[in-house]
Amino acid sequence: MKTIIEPFKIKMVEQLRFTTREEREELLQLAHYNPFLLHSDDVLIDLLTDSGTTAMSAKQWSALMDGDEAYAGSRSYYKFEKVVQDITGFKHVIPTHQGRAAERILFSLVGGVGKIIPNNTHFDTTRANIEDSGAAAVDLPDPLGIRPEVIADFKGGMDVDALEALIFQARPANVPLVMLTVTNNTGGGQPVSMRNIREVSRIAHSHGIPFFLDACRFAENAMFIKLREKGYADVPVKKIAQEMFSYADGCTMSTKKDGLVNTGGFLAMNDDALAMKARNVLIVTEGFTTYGGLARRDLEAIAIGLVEVLDESYLAYRLRSVQYLGDALEAQGVPIMRPTGGHAVYLDAKRFAPHIPVSEYPGQSIVCALYEQAGIRSVEVGSVMFGKYDSNGSLLPSPMELVRLAIPRRVYTQSHIDYVAEAVCEVYVDRDHLPGLRIAYEPPVLRHFTSHFERICKPVPALHVVGSNRVAMTNGVR
Ligand code: F0G
Repeated sequence: MKTIIEPFKIKMVEQLRFTTREEREELLQLAHYNPFLLHSDDVLIDLLTDSGTTAMSAKQWSALMDGDEAYAGSRSYYKFEKVVQDITGFKHVIPTHQGRAAERILFSLVGGVGKIIPNNTHFDTTRANIEDSGAAAVDLPDPLGIRPEVIADFKGGMDVDALEALIFQARPANVPLVMLTVTNNTGGGQPVSMRNIREVSRIAHSHGIPFFLDACRFAENAMFIKLREKGYADVPVKKIAQEMFSYADGCTMSTKKDGLVNTGGFLAMNDDALAMKARNVLIVTEGFTTYGGLARRDLEAIAIGLVEVLDESYLAYRLRSVQYLGDALEAQGVPIMRPTGGHAVYLDAKRFAPHIPVSEYPGQSIVCALYEQAGIRSVEVGSVMFGKYDSNGSLLPSPMELVRLAIPRRVYTQSHIDYVAEAVCEVYVDRDHLPGLRIAYEPPVLRHFTSHFERICKPVPALHVVGSNRVAMTNGVR
């Protein structure tokens, strides 16, 4: 098979700024060992997120000039609505400034105290918006999905037996919505099979419960279905996406991912009454129904991005280029979430730094080391992001401790990724020296964004003394 190449060429470049290790050590300390608090000018390769970091195409940039900035009834909205309806089939399309605004509107209407909302795995903002409404956000991942070392085609799905049990226990009236996140971001960017989407939809509907998709990465998920699920190899990816949406009653979407733009989102649904309520909340909190907190030109760019993202040469390159990084790391024995996901490679911090207890945040330690080593910014997806405390103040850890290396769309070249692989391997080789961290300050919600950390400096372990003995012994054997 021929090399899968970038299906684009580069017209405009953005200069990178190099720093020294000494500078990065100081900058990281000033940022309280939380790379969210770094200035992006001090970051060389930014793998913090694939969200809103896309390089837009020439067509998208030129469409911005054609935006119709009318407050109401903008031509740009109707273009956007048409494209969203074509892909999703949903009757009502409500634009928002990003994905979490769609979540907030939806859960302020269907959430509330006593309600339970299941998902394969809730993203952090989805969980926060549900909990903010007073409802409970419950994760029901496929049991394989929380075992990073296991290779399977569709680890991102929902445990359908657990869903049946939860609905039975909670009673359908208390479950206002069942959700599936495609791909499963918190679960390692793993895809959800069409079969699982169909099953979850069937179960929800059999209890009269609406079913929504969190569709941020719907196109990557559709491409995985084409590549891996029986019967879909010859089906155009757009048709696969349309089938995915056909089982749902609505969706939330952050177009900052598979919309191939720098901002935006939408809430879409078929229910007339719910849509009317949602539009009323939108007008109060985001803006009029034909712009929802966005400049109208943004809607132009989204309309084009949603078409470009379904180009199969783009999706083949996209999935292959992420896998390329995963393969390079696995070849050096670095433990990662297997197989590689659609938008990111996730390091398995528990196996990467087994000497750091979960209560000292091994993922955050790796994140810091990667920045110091090579100026690479990544994010912990583990107990910093999802940890909670019990009534005694002890940490209730996340099921997995991961470090996400999210690949922005159409931004970095193969040599950037080679550099990343080299840096991760260097940190891995020196992993025994990674220190644990304690939290010095944390806000009450979404703590990973702004927490401050301190490194736990332990006395040099005896192991290192043995290490020098080991050299002597080796010499002796020689
Ligand atoms: N749902 C999923 C699955 C997401 O990954 C995100 C954002 C959102 C909802 C919220 O969208 O940021 O536009 O408000 N994920 C980003 C990330 C932030 O880094 O994975 P938003």
